Amino acid sequence: MTEATPDPLALEVRALAAERDAVIFAHNYQLPEVQDVADIVGDSLELARRASASDASVIVLAGVRFMAETAKILAPAKTVLLPAGRAGCPMADMITADQLAAWKADNPGVPVVMYVNSSADVKALTDVCCTSANAVEVVRSLGVPKVLFGPDRNLGTWIAGQLPDVEMVLWNGCCPIHDRVNAEMVLVAKSEHPAARVLVHPECRPEVTALADAVLSTSQMLRYAKAMAKGEIIAVTESGLLHGMAKAAPDVRVFGVKPAMVCPNMKLTTLVEVRDALRDLAGEVTVPDGTAEAARAAVERMTAIG
Ligand code: 13P
Ligand code: SF4
Repeated sequence: MTEATPDPLALEVRALAAERDAVIFAHNYQLPEVQDVADIVGDSLELARRASASDASVIVLAGVRFMAETAKILAPAKTVLLPAGRAGCPMADMITADQLAAWKADNPGVPVVMYVNSSADVKALTDVCCTSANAVEVVRSLGVPKVLFGPDRNLGTWIAGQLPDVEMVLWNGCCPIHDRVNAEMVLVAKSEHPAARVLVHPECRPEVTALADAVLSTSQMLRYAKAMAKGEIIAVTESGLLHGMAKAAPDVRVFGVKPAMVCPNMKLTTLVEVRDALRDLAGEVTVPDGTAEAARAAVERMTAIG
């Protein structure tokens, strides 16, 4: 939490968190006031790792459902709360467990790598999960000539470009927010800020990653900005990251593309909902034991890599 925050609601949230023995995790795309009240702000990999490492009784996950499910899979004894229960991820809904089962049946013996942006049911049928921060390392670690990868075809295409010896069979899903960006939008931003480094999230299309100085997860972008200390960045990812960038590297000017990239699901969690979740222990996320058990190995392999 920001030391100088005078907001009574933020103070109430912190007091309730202490009372409930709770930690508040926020994804880098969350609303600024939610990021500022959190104990940990991070990318999907950091939030998953912190879930298993935390000794709090309650985890409040300010993010979307797959993140809360991942925390619950890794920390089954903890109460995991998703303050905005309707916050989903459209990409995670682009592959169902039935579809994955049929895909596997058509490709016997081919390992399955699933982006963490997927449901618990899908993870339960997966060999290893990955995030944007470790996707290339995860696939490389398998040491196999062919994998089934989903649901993000753009992330899969990015991995395939890094690992030309691996045949990546891709599911046809995507993030609607990142997939909407085209090369023209990036070129316009570059023409307005010619000295800026271009950082691109791997959920973007190949024509966009091709224009990047670096292809990075959200927290990797934050670290890049911090290391730069001064200068300009065009960050081609959801606009919520700009808040963290400004805090992490106040002397780096950060721009987005136009129109701004906004994930409506990531903006559903308000400070009021965080307060209400803590006050009422509401919005608990559960994963059936059998599903969690089956998914845990794939998620634990993910957190161990990279
Ligand atoms: P990372 O923060 O892990 O890079 O992922 C972005 C994302 O899609 C979250 O929805
Ligand atoms: Fe899903 Fe894209 Fe929103 Fe991330 S930004 S939660 S991948 S829709």
